[in-house]
Amino acid sequence: MPFPFSDIRQFIADAEKEGSLQVVKGADPQLEIGAVTEMAAAKPDPPLLLFDEIIGFTPGFRIATDLFNTQARTARVLGLNESLRGIDLVRAWKQRIAQITPIKPKEVSKGPILENVMDGNNVDIAKFPAPKWGHLDGGNFLGTGCSVILKHPDSGWINVGTYRVMTIGKKSEVSINIASGKHGDIIRKLYWEREMNCPIVICLGQEPSFFVSGGHFLTAAGESVFDFTGGLQGRPMEYIKGEKTGLPIPSTAEIAIEGELVPIEQKSVMDGPFGEWPGYITPAKKVPIVEIKRIYYRNNPIILGSPPLKPPLPEVLAVNVVTSAALWREIEQHMPEVKGVWCANEGGTGGVPGFFVVVSIKQRYPGHAKQAAMAAVACRAGAYAGRYVVVVDDDIDPSNLSDVVWSISTRCDPLTGIDVIKGTWDSPVDPLLDPEKAEAGDFTTNRAIINSCKPFHKLSSFPPVIKVTTEMRKKILEKYPEIFKEQDKESKNRG
Ligand SMILES: Cc1cc2nc3c(=O)[nH]c(=O)nc-3n(C[C@H](O)[C@H](O)[C@H](O)COP(=O)(O)O)c2cc1C
Repeated sequence: MPFPFSDIRQFIADAEKEGSLQVVKGADPQLEIGAVTEMAAAKPDPPLLLFDEIIGFTPGFRIATDLFNTQARTARVLGLNESLRGIDLVRAWKQRIAQITPIKPKEVSKGPILENVMDGNNVDIAKFPAPKWGHLDGGNFLGTGCSVILKHPDSGWINVGTYRVMTIGKKSEVSINIASGKHGDIIRKLYWEREMNCPIVICLGQEPSFFVSGGHFLTAAGESVFDFTGGLQGRPMEYIKGEKTGLPIPSTAEIAIEGELVPIEQKSVMDGPFGEWPGYITPAKKVPIVEIKRIYYRNNPIILGSPPLKPPLPEVLAVNVVTSAALWREIEQHMPEVKGVWCANEGGTGGVPGFFVVVSIKQRYPGHAKQAAMAAVACRAGAYAGRYVVVVDDDIDPSNLSDVVWSISTRCDPLTGIDVIKGTWDSPVDPLLDPEKAEAGDFTTNRAIINSCKPFHKLSSFPPVIKVTTEMRKKILEKYPEIFKEQDKESKNRG
């Protein structure tokens, strides 16, 4: 079956068909859009929100939020079966990415992104609604669910990531916040070291699987997110070549800013404070400026808004599923029998695994569990901004946190089962980061690995778990169907 959508509009139309679209008219971008987004996300079955007739902006200039806040919509953006839940959804995505053969994008001369162009003195970024999402935020953030395109100056590798974009009260300038160590950071510095501005394209609303592919450590250095997304969709992504930068711009993007990222020593601004994925307001930080050379946009453009919210959210976000699968895939490159990886939404997730990661393995040799934990701490998908890695046996579903807590409580001896690894790569948004350390550029933290697997040498002698046998369960269900009818239905609904 062909991939069902090639722009954000078709994804929204699907939500409308299933009855989960909520159009919100007349909201104020100063706090109301953020408040509706946060409050609706907390509903048991959150709707996809489309804000129109935004106060102070041209009707039709819209913002969509809460796109992937249900497991069904998460499955849809990844091209998976929409009935999958929890660790089954992660497993299906992992299998899917293992089968992807990258497809190179195709340059085209036409596309909806060319419907409107602002050039030279006509450039005015203030025409597009940039919400102040939360009352403690220090600015208006136009790009929270954006896809940012950069090119390696030597190899020509095209990198795509999501890095937040703030308006700064100027018509042709915005700021951008790329964390140190990200590919995007490394690339921009290569230009700056040569005393050049870094060419950049910022898409503010794009086909959602392209956004997911770029924002989640899915591709390694040198691998193209355009090729990966093409492989996922089974057809080449179409792009137009930006005249000002030469960079590829997805032809179905909603808004694309072409510009130059100026070295931070020459021009900078304070970005934030901003409510970040751990659930706290992060202090302001000095960031560089993008000088805008041209803005392309579709008629009635839709900006994808993806502001971080306090975890946990009621449903699993796409980020959680995607990062879990990316981590699982990497860990199992180093060892056998990895049965599941779960980046708990409760530990925060925002294109990173977050502070609480669970790895389930079938132990095959002494030290296997420790090796799994250390791989989860060290590999690309797991290295950044983590706190706890818990390793559990394969009888524990890593996506069931009740079982995980039971496992830690009963199988982990705190004296021998917990190790602390010092000096690991941290995010500036970590609420535990000491401000003085951050000021000095020391973005490092400490990680705990919690081995809650049964000791390997006691596997056969460890006390058995209380559990009705499969045969007895079957027999009882047949003998007393009236007692278990409801329970059976409930557990199926919970998936
Ligand atoms: C919704 C969302 C917002 C994000 N915001 C930022 C951000 O502001 N700065 C940043 O460095 N990374 C942010 N990320 C994470 C990066 O996009 C992600 O780590 C990506 O893989 C980085 O790619 P790179 O290492 O190729 O640069 C965000 C991710 C998502 C999904």
